[in-house]
Amino acid sequence: MASIALLLTVCFLGFYVPVPSLASSSHNHNDFLRCLSTSLPSQLVLTPSSPSFTPLLVSSIRNARLVAPATANPPLCIVTPTNASHVQAAVRCGRRHSVRVRVRSGGHDNEGLSYRSITPNSEAFAVIDLAKLHAVRVNPHEATAWVETGATTGELYYRIATAAPGLGFPASVCPTVGVGVGGIISGGGIGLMMRKYGLSADNVLDATMVDADGNLLANKKAMGDDLFWAIRGGGGGNFGIVLAWKLRLVPVPPKVTFLKIAKTMEQGAVDAVTKWQTLAPALPDDLSVRVVIQKSQANFQSLYLGNCSTVVATMRSRFPELGVTSADCKEMSWLQYTAYIYFGDAINSKPLEALLLNRSTTLGPFVKNKSDYVKKALTKETWKKIFLWPNGGGSGQLILEPHGGAMGRIAADKIPFPHRSGVLYNIQYVELWNGKQAGGDVTPTPNWIGGLYDLMTPYVSKSPRGAYVNYRDLDMGVNKVVGGVTCYQTAKVWGKRYFGPANFRRLAKIKRKVDRTDYFRNEQSIPPLPLN
Ligand SMILES: Cc1cc2nc3c(=O)[nH]c(=O)nc-3n(C[C@H](O)[C@H](O)[C@H](O)COP(=O)(O)OP(=O)(O)OC[C@H]3O[C@@H](n4cnc5c(N)ncnc54)[C@H](O)[C@@H]3O)c2cc1C
Ligand SMILES: *[C@@H]1O[C@H](CO)[C@@H](O)[C@H](O)[C@H]1NC(C)=O
Ligand SMILES: *[C@@H]1O[C@H](CO)[C@@H](O)[C@H](O)[C@H]1NC(C)=O
Ligand SMILES: *[C@@H]1O[C@H](CO)[C@@H](O)[C@H](O)[C@H]1NC(C)=O
Ligand SMILES: *[C@@H]1O[C@H](CO)[C@@H](O)[C@H](O)[C@H]1NC(C)=O
Repeated sequence: MASIALLLTVCFLGFYVPVPSLASSSHNHNDFLRCLSTSLPSQLVLTPSSPSFTPLLVSSIRNARLVAPATANPPLCIVTPTNASHVQAAVRCGRRHSVRVRVRSGGHDNEGLSYRSITPNSEAFAVIDLAKLHAVRVNPHEATAWVETGATTGELYYRIATAAPGLGFPASVCPTVGVGVGGIISGGGIGLMMRKYGLSADNVLDATMVDADGNLLANKKAMGDDLFWAIRGGGGGNFGIVLAWKLRLVPVPPKVTFLKIAKTMEQGAVDAVTKWQTLAPALPDDLSVRVVIQKSQANFQSLYLGNCSTVVATMRSRFPELGVTSADCKEMSWLQYTAYIYFGDAINSKPLEALLLNRSTTLGPFVKNKSDYVKKALTKETWKKIFLWPNGGGSGQLILEPHGGAMGRIAADKIPFPHRSGVLYNIQYVELWNGKQAGGDVTPTPNWIGGLYDLMTPYVSKSPRGAYVNYRDLDMGVNKVVGGVTCYQTAKVWGKRYFGPANFRRLAKIKRKVDRTDYFRNEQSIPPLPLN
């Protein structure tokens, strides 16, 4: 055991140990590519020499910050499977020839970990892009659906609502439609129906996946309870490649109501947000009110699973400060709402399928996001400071998502997502700026976000300071590899923040059981629990 103790000490002290590559060499790479070419139709494997390679690599990137890092260190190839056996073959070739794979569903990972590696001296890797596996099979009588993980949430919503009017699914809120169901459900999935129905991952009934040996596990029975627990919220890219989820669909009324109210500081935004903190988590489960704070203005956005007159009455009695009237309401179908919250009035001039089934993304500005959880309301004085926090040269946003309701009733160890009872709301910090793509380097993040995140330390959840794995943030640290596997002590620093200490340990134990040699690995993947 002395050697393990030594290893723990070494990685604990933080010596940098270069990542031992899987004996990565051009020799292996050629063997790997040859293996793929004998197992897969050649048009499903793109190498950098193909003119479609770079367009495909950057196709799902919205964040300008990630373009240069992705193209400077491209994958060996991109595999675009059209059936499960192709995914199995890619994993088996990877194992045989010591090349890792990263899997991409919607490609919206905040740090781009599904298609880029930031590890110094980085080892070669291949990307498995699931975009061609996007079938959705809805069973209206059972109120269930099987969705392949290459589908986006926009497509999922569209297929459910058209096949089974009256049913919906709780997933992403805002800019929703391009997020992949592979990533979002793997990390939990928060949205404006979570107060009524929980996270996306709380509504997973079954799944199909490919494990680290390339075996197809057709259902949860084949996975066993531990692995099926781990893939529902333990974060993408850790335990295998999920090919499809079986989802429990939820009832939605024929019309839902969307409300939008803006308040400037002069109009009482600080008081309203101060009150919102304890009010929003205690509202009826059918009603979610989120807040987007930008340029010293608070924008309250709300989804109510019912009609305008009812929600106006509720808001007037519970939150009179907002002065809600029926003029602030828009009634629409649940499906229209999923598009409206992103596209706004464009939904009146374009068919919903054009909006929700369109996978192409436009490259936006540079973006950096971070997250926090709040358990104790901040004072009015603190909010005033936050509203007045200088915005540097960029533009910053705070997005507050209310918890409570079903989120507070589900146990913190039901699935790996731990932020349940006692949480008032989630904060997402978003910083947007126009950076320069210079020589493969990335313009440093302006400091609005870092400064504000530091300022918030005393006011947010502590020991550990919580964070949401789907709002991945590499500022919390990156993995070190010691003795061929990811170091547990290093990963624990952010692992317990994403999952809580007990869930993180259980995830690491499951990782040891199902992927002992740590084949599925990235900068913040779950390490195998050390044996002692
Ligand atoms: C515009 C935008 C809006 C967002 N809105 C929300 C929101 O409302 N609610 C919310 O909860 N989150 C939201 N997010 C965060 C989002 O949930 C995560 O970024 C999520 O990981 C994206 O999933 P993806 O499939 O698009 O990402 P990808 O980049 O494809 O994957 C993310 C991670 O999961 C892994 N992965 C992907 N597919 C699979 C698979 N099939 N099996 C196993 N692992 C897999 C990847 O390897 C990677 O590690 C948003 C993000 C963006 C950029
Ligand atoms: C997958 O596609 C290959 C062709 O590439 C085909 O030979 C095989 O039968 C397909 N497998 C399944 C399970 O559909
Ligand atoms: C950051 O969050 C915002 C708001 O949810 C989202 O639009 C954006 O795409 C996210 N970007 C990144 C890189 O995480
Ligand atoms: C709104 O919903 C309430 C409660 O379900 C119902 O009693 C009322 O008739 C509805 N009003 C309209 C205008 O649909
Ligand atoms: C799909 O989205 C892209 C990027 O936002 C846009 O340029 C394109 O026009 C859209 N296509 C359709 C058919 O609406």
